[in-house]
Amino acid sequence: MNLARQIEQYLPRQLLKLVKDISKQAAKHGQRVYLVGGVVRDLLLGDPSLSSGLRFDLDLVVEGDAVKLAQQVAEASQAKLLAHHRFGTAKLRYENFTLDLATARRETYARPGALPMVTPGTLKYDLIRRDFSINAMAISLAANDYGELVDSYQGKIDLEHCLIRILHPGSFSDDATRILRAVRYEQRLCFELETQTAQLLKRDIPMLDTISGDRIRHELELIFKEKQPEFVINRLAELGVLQGISPFLKGDGWIAEKFDKARHLKKSTQLPSLYFCLLIYSFSETDVEQFLARLNIPAKLSRAMRDTLRLKTSLPLLDKSSLKPSEIYYLLWEYEPVAIQVNAIASDSSMVHRHLQLFLTKLRYVRTSLDGEELKKLGISAGPEMGKILQMLHKAKLDGEFRTKADEKKLALSLKAPDLNTDPEPSRE
Ligand code: CTP
Repeated sequence: MNLARQIEQYLPRQLLKLVKDISKQAAKHGQRVYLVGGVVRDLLLGDPSLSSGLRFDLDLVVEGDAVKLAQQVAEASQAKLLAHHRFGTAKLRYENFTLDLATARRETYARPGALPMVTPGTLKYDLIRRDFSINAMAISLAANDYGELVDSYQGKIDLEHCLIRILHPGSFSDDATRILRAVRYEQRLCFELETQTAQLLKRDIPMLDTISGDRIRHELELIFKEKQPEFVINRLAELGVLQGISPFLKGDGWIAEKFDKARHLKKSTQLPSLYFCLLIYSFSETDVEQFLARLNIPAKLSRAMRDTLRLKTSLPLLDKSSLKPSEIYYLLWEYEPVAIQVNAIASDSSMVHRHLQLFLTKLRYVRTSLDGEELKKLGISAGPEMGKILQMLHKAKLDGEFRTKADEKKLALSLKAPDLNTDPEPSRE
C-alpha cells in the first residue's frame, strides 16, 4: 500500500519539506528514513486533526545513525538539536515543529520496568519493540519507494478491526506504562482491547509496581490531555488498573460529571491540575500522602492536592448566607486557587459554590488604594500598627464600605493611635 497521497495531503507543507530534506540527506550516506508510530496510524485513519495541522511532532526512524544525521541537518538549518547518544536518538526543534529521530534499534529489558538496553537493528526489529500493532507501522520516505507502508505486524488489519493488540506476551511486563497507554488509545479511538491483550493486561497490573512515580505521573498527564479523560479513567477503574496505582483511586459517574464540568470552565489553563485534584477528592488527608509519594508529585501540585482536601473539610463554614465578603476572603486566602476551584466544581451546595466563585473572580484581587508609603505620609509608622491598619482597610474595602481613596484616608486617620496623631510631617529638631 502506498500512502504518498495521504502524506502530501495531511502534513503541513513546511513539515513535509523538512522530512523530505532529511530523507535526501540520509540517502547521501546510504541510509533510509521512515515515518513511524502515531502519525502512520493517524494517516491510515484519515484523522482530520492532521489536516488542520495539529500534529506538529513526528517520529522518524533511521536505518543508519540518527544522531549523526540530526547533527548534519541541524548544522544546515535553524533547528535546535538535543541528542541522546546512549539511546541513538535526537530531537530537532524548529519554530513550529519537533522531529524525533531514532536509530532503528533492538531493545532488551534487563528486568521488568527498567529502561531498555539498546543496540542498533533493522526497521523490522525497531517495529517489534513497540507497544501496539497499530503503532508499529512505518512509511518509507526514501525516493525509490516514497510513501510505501511497512506493516510487518498486521497493524492495518487491527486498525480496520478497531483493535489494540500488543506484539508479544511480555510487552506489558517489559514496560507496564503500556497498560495505561493501551486504555488511552482504546478510549481515544473507540477501539477494543484484543482478547489476549486484555487478559495479559489484567495479569500484568501488578507490574505497575516496577514503574517509577515520574513515569506513571507522565502517563496520567497524557491521559489528561485527551479530549475526554474521564472515559480513560473510568475504564482503567473497570479493569482494576487504577487500583494498581493506588488502592484509594476510583473511577465513577462522579468523576465523569466533575471532569466534564472542569473542562467547561471559561479559564482552563489549570485543567491538568484540576483533574489531578478531582481524582483524589474522595481520599482522606492521610491517603493522599501515599499517593503524592508514589507519583512523586511536584511541590506546587502537592500543595494544591493537600489544600483541596483541607478545604473540603472546611466547606460547611462557607455554607452560610450571612457571610460578609471579608469573612469569605479570610476563610480562603491561604488556599491554592486550584484547590478552591476544585471545591467549587465538587460542592453540591449552590451557596458554597457562589462563595468560592466570588473569592476566585473578585475578592482575591481586591487591594487597598493606600499602600504603606502613603500611610507613612499620613503619619502612620511602619510596624504592627501599620499592618493592623492595612488589614482593616482591606477588610472594609472587601465589604464595600468605601468607594474612593478619600474614604480610605479618612478611615486610616480615624484608626491611627491618638499619640501618633500629630503633625504628619514632623520637624527634624
Ligand atoms: N512507544 C512504545 N512504547 C511506549 C511508548 C512509545 O512502543 N511505552 C512507541 C510507539 O510506537 C509510539 C511511538 O513510540 O507510536 C511514539 O510514542 P508517543 O509519541 O508517545 O505516541 P504517538 O504514537 O505519537 O501517539 P499519540 O501522540 O497520538 O498519543
